[in-house]
Amino acid sequence: MRDTKATPAGSGAVPGGGRTPAAAAEEALEMRPGALLEVRHLSKFFPVYGGLLRRKVADVKAVDDVSFFVREGETLGLVGESGCGKTTVGRTILRLIEPTAGEALFRSEVLADKESGQERAVVDLFKLDKEQLKRVRREVQMIFQDPNSSLNPRMTVRDILAEPFEIHRIGSKAEIDDRIVELMQAVGLRPEYRNRYPHQFSGGQRQRIGIARALALRPKLIIADEPVSALDVSIQGQVLNLLADLQEQFGLTYIFVAHDLSVVEHISDRVAVMYLGKVVELASSEALYRSPKHPYTEALLSAVPIADPDYRRERIILQGNVPSPLNPPPGCRFHPRCPYAQQGNRMAKCSGEVPELRDLGGGHWVACHFAEELKLQGVEPPAATTAS
Ligand SMILES: Nc1ncnc2c1ncn2[C@@H]1O[C@H](COP(=O)(O)OP(=O)(O)O)[C@@H](O)[C@H]1O
Ligand code: SF4
Ligand SMILES: [Mg+2]
Repeated sequence: MRDTKATPAGSGAVPGGGRTPAAAAEEALEMRPGALLEVRHLSKFFPVYGGLLRRKVADVKAVDDVSFFVREGETLGLVGESGCGKTTVGRTILRLIEPTAGEALFRSEVLADKESGQERAVVDLFKLDKEQLKRVRREVQMIFQDPNSSLNPRMTVRDILAEPFEIHRIGSKAEIDDRIVELMQAVGLRPEYRNRYPHQFSGGQRQRIGIARALALRPKLIIADEPVSALDVSIQGQVLNLLADLQEQFGLTYIFVAHDLSVVEHISDRVAVMYLGKVVELASSEALYRSPKHPYTEALLSAVPIADPDYRRERIILQGNVPSPLNPPPGCRFHPRCPYAQQGNRMAKCSGEVPELRDLGGGHWVACHFAEELKLQGVEPPAATTAS
């Protein structure tokens, strides 16, 4: 069965029922040219059990039919309030948790059939068996939000950084030691500290250890899950700059997760905004910041500090809290909080029909029924005031 609906990841295939991993691997998968990763119709529902018999009584719809792609070498920002499903997207791509549905196509080098001259193979990460998954993990890595809980406190930096090589049986002890020195230098840590434990470093340095570990096997794609939000504001910039430098040096592709738009503004080529398990807008950073098309993006942007003191904007305070993904509102999930749904006679449509994510042109995707008629405000001052 093929789903012909257009998505930002192309016309996606609905997850094939009952195909074995081998059969799936044999079937040639098509991917958008230039994309390194293409996520199609990803959903992750967490079952909730209740009652005496501990039966499933509901689902937490943490991620619900999400599609996007990441071009090789770019940074895609993934932004939304806490609980909207960002970490779940990252963890399912890496198969740290299993998806409920969807596909994650990835252009892999390690899984290519080198003997037949193939340089890259398009694989569906969700259909790989354990052995293939282990191999492909060299190419897809994650940087975690909290370096304190993601680094084993009983291991020295040397052992933390040696572990990926040992798991993948790469290099002799001497080669691994050389690589560890290189890695520590690449992230701005002094190699002579390699026998120290994580607690002997500052928070920023600990995150550098996490970054070095993610880099160890020279991955192509790094999913950085709020990599600076646990750090002091004063050192967030340093770590962001380091990530940008490493991207250039090693030709990395990033999915950069953040809970507010100000963090991703300068480092993202494109940004996807999530609300309650769905992508509501996806566009180039420039288009998204300058002329947002979704009311939720506009509200997030109204909280981004701007440098120009002459340019004032009103901060949009949304009513209520983010609803629970256990029981998301019908229609547009944003409708109970959307200032524009209350106006005119929009509410019936907003609360009754789910808006599809659609391309308004030029790769600016939005899931709002009224995107064309709303006049939303971005962060850029009007053109006249930027001339001087
Ligand atoms: N293992 C889990 N079991 C049940 N619910 C979960 C689990 N992990 C995440 N959730 C729920 O899924 C939703 C999305 O979570 P998460 O992906 O962590 O959001 P974010 O990273 O955007 O803050 C939240 O409502 C969260 O409570
Ligand atoms: S569809 Fe309606 S509720 Fe949803 S963002 Fe657009 S105007 Fe607001
Ligand atoms: Mg998270």
